Amino acid sequence: MIETLDIVSWAGPYDDNFRRRAAERLEAGAVLLFPSLGFPLDDTETALVRSAGSDGSAKNISLDPATGQCKGSTISGTELATLTAMLDRFGKSARSLVEGLLPHYAAGLERARTSFRPVEISGRHSSWRQDDKRLHVDAFPSRPMQGRRILRVFANIDLDGTPRHWRIGPDFETYAARFLPSLPRAVPGKSWLLHRLGVTRARRSRYDEVMLFLHDAAKRDLGWQRDAPVQEVDFPPGCAWAVFTDQVAHAATAGRNALEQSFYVEPGALARPETAPLAVLKRMCGAAMV
Ligand SMILES: [Fe+2]
Repeated sequence: MIETLDIVSWAGPYDDNFRRRAAERLEAGAVLLFPSLGFPLDDTETALVRSAGSDGSAKNISLDPATGQCKGSTISGTELATLTAMLDRFGKSARSLVEGLLPHYAAGLERARTSFRPVEISGRHSSWRQDDKRLHVDAFPSRPMQGRRILRVFANIDLDGTPRHWRIGPDFETYAARFLPSLPRAVPGKSWLLHRLGVTRARRSRYDEVMLFLHDAAKRDLGWQRDAPVQEVDFPPGCAWAVFTDQVAHAATAGRNALEQSFYVEPGALARPETAPLAVLKRMCGAAMV
């Protein structure tokens, strides 16, 4: 489940061995772990990370690279400018890493939001659907992906040595097989209506409906949350990791001060599309998904 790649720079070129292993293992459902890939902060950023953690007002502060705007933060002025620049620098570094390790993705890669997650996860309360301490695969209620992949790059930038703790669940097909028997039938006109009402940015495909169902069904099932086989992983400060979070069942149960960059990957850019949730669900459901 974990493929360790000991690279030390966010900028390539990377040697063939690293690129081959990254391409093979990522799409097979592994987490790529870069134990020596720290994201260095300057003095101003360090001070900002310290104060953001103590404030605790926001779960996630996110930068939309399309607008250059940060959301979720109560800070302003020079501090906000520092935060925005730090997030943008991380987003560019993450893109450089992905394009260097997985050059075949470059033409089908969209940089989405960059987020800073300052607040300690353990002990935080949220609704069951939003509780990322429960195992789940990622799916977005308002942003239909229509088969595009969700690839995320994380870095732990905590200043006090706190690891980020994940539980990683069974492979995607095993996960899907557990919940698909209770998948509701498609409701004709529902995706059209949700889009028309502005609930979704585009029409949900059947793929989006099934992925949302898998997300919710897993989080709601406390018995499965307790009994599913998991691998416990600590990501210490100074490391980074990359994973297809629409494929790998994951739960973040402790830690603070992580940076995260989301990418959307076109299915046509994948090296092994048959391993993607789109193809697995099509085979398991015996029906077209998009
Ligand atoms: Fe998630």
